[in-house]
Amino acid sequence: MSHVRKAVIPAAGLGTRFLPATKAIPKEMLPIVDRPAIQYVIEEAVSAGIEDILVITAPSKKPLEDHFDRNFELEALLESRGKTAGLDQVKAIASMAKMHFTRQGQPLGLGHAIGMARCYVGDEPFAVLLPDDILTDNGELLSRMISTQASTGSVVVAAGHYPLEDVISYGVIDPISIADDVIDVASIVEKPALEDATSNYGLAPGRYVFPPSIFDAIDATTPGVGGEIQITDAIAAMIASTGVRAVLNHNNRYDAGQKLDWLRATVEIALGHDELGPGFRELLTDIVAKHGIGAAGTPSTEIA
Ligand code: G1P
Repeated sequence: MSHVRKAVIPAAGLGTRFLPATKAIPKEMLPIVDRPAIQYVIEEAVSAGIEDILVITAPSKKPLEDHFDRNFELEALLESRGKTAGLDQVKAIASMAKMHFTRQGQPLGLGHAIGMARCYVGDEPFAVLLPDDILTDNGELLSRMISTQASTGSVVVAAGHYPLEDVISYGVIDPISIADDVIDVASIVEKPALEDATSNYGLAPGRYVFPPSIFDAIDATTPGVGGEIQITDAIAAMIASTGVRAVLNHNNRYDAGQKLDWLRATVEIALGHDELGPGFRELLTDIVAKHGIGAAGTPSTEIA
């Protein structure tokens, strides 16, 4: 059994990057192929050994609770019609993990949202998964992070190597050393100005494994970038005590809260889908030819 049993998913954000789709639907419920984005994140957590999950929400997020709850009316209907595959899928969602929901109350920042989990977490290490980031690695990155936390006792973050103009949208790390894809972190700054970025290593995908002492650091954190309580600032304060390690991600990562990257996720995940993949590949090949995409392609709508 993994030594990290609990995860926290901050999902109180209003999804303003994906309007108008997110006017009345939580961004976490936008479908990618055949399931809402947040289901990929829960599946990833479960694959890494997580059993118990707290989702931090806002008043508009009720569909998240409904999705992970039983739906007896739907189950009875599917059963009466003999639709066993659908019935199994619907039941499985409600039993993937023990789910809990609490509201953030005020939009005071990611650090504040994670701080809401203090009583739930108690005195054990826990994971945080930001639901905009979709991975399809079966929990590989999170499992490596959990092992690193167990062997070092540090705060463990996920990181990637990004172009300088992109990395400044993230927390940026200054490495002391890098060994076996783990960075020993000297400093960490939330969304620095371009001239202040100390490296190309950014905190994305948004995955963290924290010792419970992070809650004292959050309590001591004052508003930072954007006037919000930033988790990055609380992490920076932990460098002097537990230390901070960054585990490098080399797998695909999609920002499902961003329209173009959501399209990329949809296409790539559909191509790898057991049931839909082969048919979708044919469809995509036709679309590519029809629109003249690719080196040899000529748009069929143009006269040659
Ligand atoms: C948050 C974190 C940031 C991190 C990013 C990853 O920023 O504050 O440090 O790099 O998630 O996606 P946000 O994207 O919520 O502005």
